Amino acid sequence: MRKTVGVDDIAAYVPKLYVDAEDLAEERGIPPSKLIKGLGIEKLAIPDAHEDAATMAAMATLEVMEKNDLSPKDIDFIQVATETGPDAAKPISCYVQGMLEQIYGRGSFDHVGAPETKFACVGATYAMIDRLAYIASGWNRAEYSIVVATDIAMYELNSSGEPTQGAAAVALLLKENPRLLAYEPRLTGFGTVDDRDFFRPIERKTAVVDGQYSVGCYLRDMRIAADAYKRNMLELGLLKHPRESVADKIDLAAFHSPFPKMVQYAFASFLIHDWRGLPRWKRILEEIGPEPSREGLTDVEFYISDEYKNFRRKFTRTEEFRREYEDKIEDSLIALRQIGNSYTASVWLGVESHFEARADDLAGKRFGVGSYGSGSSAIVCSFIVQPDYKEVVKKMDLMEKLNRRRRIPISVYEDLHEGRLNFCESVIPPKNEFSLVSLGKRSHDMGYRYYKYVK
Ligand code: CAA
Repeated sequence: MRKTVGVDDIAAYVPKLYVDAEDLAEERGIPPSKLIKGLGIEKLAIPDAHEDAATMAAMATLEVMEKNDLSPKDIDFIQVATETGPDAAKPISCYVQGMLEQIYGRGSFDHVGAPETKFACVGATYAMIDRLAYIASGWNRAEYSIVVATDIAMYELNSSGEPTQGAAAVALLLKENPRLLAYEPRLTGFGTVDDRDFFRPIERKTAVVDGQYSVGCYLRDMRIAADAYKRNMLELGLLKHPRESVADKIDLAAFHSPFPKMVQYAFASFLIHDWRGLPRWKRILEEIGPEPSREGLTDVEFYISDEYKNFRRKFTRTEEFRREYEDKIEDSLIALRQIGNSYTASVWLGVESHFEARADDLAGKRFGVGSYGSGSSAIVCSFIVQPDYKEVVKKMDLMEKLNRRRRIPISVYEDLHEGRLNFCESVIPPKNEFSLVSLGKRSHDMGYRYYKYVK
């Protein structure tokens, strides 16, 4: 018999500093409404001088362990997904192991497997599937595995990507018979295309991105993955006919959010594709006019054409779209508007945001996840919310953490961005947290990163 595996708990770490979107807009001479309404961003999480993707990952992992009263022997794997790791060879997961051993004792985690996974922002979803498959196979030696998504999204100052920066880490606690989300492995759909929408050559701190083109790649890959998900639903009899809607079978969902408006684009494009040919589509077309032709255009060219954008914009104003969006998507964006992009962590912050915001009973509901990583690949998958999920949600405190942060002026943000503050010149000195404390300077440890739990 197949085992039920999935996500037992989630813990998020968000840096204590943020830039307010209005401050950034004013400094850059952009109308604030472009960032707040146009892109959907209110605040951008900014790591302090002593933080990096490894310290954030360790903080999220420590929290998920403490919250669940776990000891090292309960953990089988610590697998980290990141695209902003500080080292090209050593995985963050091993740095995390070392940091946790400062708390739990030297050698206490020497039994764990600790790989790192990379595929831009979709990496953590790939890592989660790997670990769940391992648990389902029965190969695991301890009950729990932890997958950590951790990233610092950085673009050049003054670039069009700058307002879409952010940072966070999320630790997913995985096990058999989870309390939160049971994975539906046979439904998962993938969509992968070798592309150049966004990448970061090893020597660069900031990503190279073709902004509008990357939006088209996201929509193209998500459609390929959603088509695969639909085929799987048909094969398993969850849909009886290709003309049935996938969206009707999904109760709530979170999408990768480079900026919250992108989630609206993604959900609208998904519904346009899903509803085409249904009776409700006829009525919608009567209101907004025909879908533009894609003749002679590649998928990406079509998705970023003015004609398609206008059509999608009109669709998002229909009553049918508004209702679906408010019911199934909007709550995932409450936290994301306050954080900005956090690459691998983003979609999982959306999941936690939903759980913290929704007061109605979600037990038994199907929770969809649309994960996208540039380069490029999308995963569309789903989970069933478990009967005891409220016990887990009670201890989630992402929104509280977001309310306790400090707003920093643009000059300080720029100093942090440009690396002008040394790791010992933090805006808020580290307390009860992991901190980068030195960088190796001798021939045998040149550039090696030393971390410490600062009490
Ligand atoms: N008031 C209100 N709204 C305004 C406005 C104003 N003054 N000015 C513009 N807007 C609206 C626009 O109308 C548009 O909304 P609609 O589509 O609903 O009409 C919205 O603001 C965005 O406008 P633009 O498309 O003109 O924005 P832009 O080109 O300046 O920047 C971006 C958008 C290209 C995505 C840029 O932020 C960027 O390059 N970001 C980094 C790359 C990225 O995030 N890509 C996303 C897909 S790739 C991915 O998902 C992986 C990843 O994490 C990187």
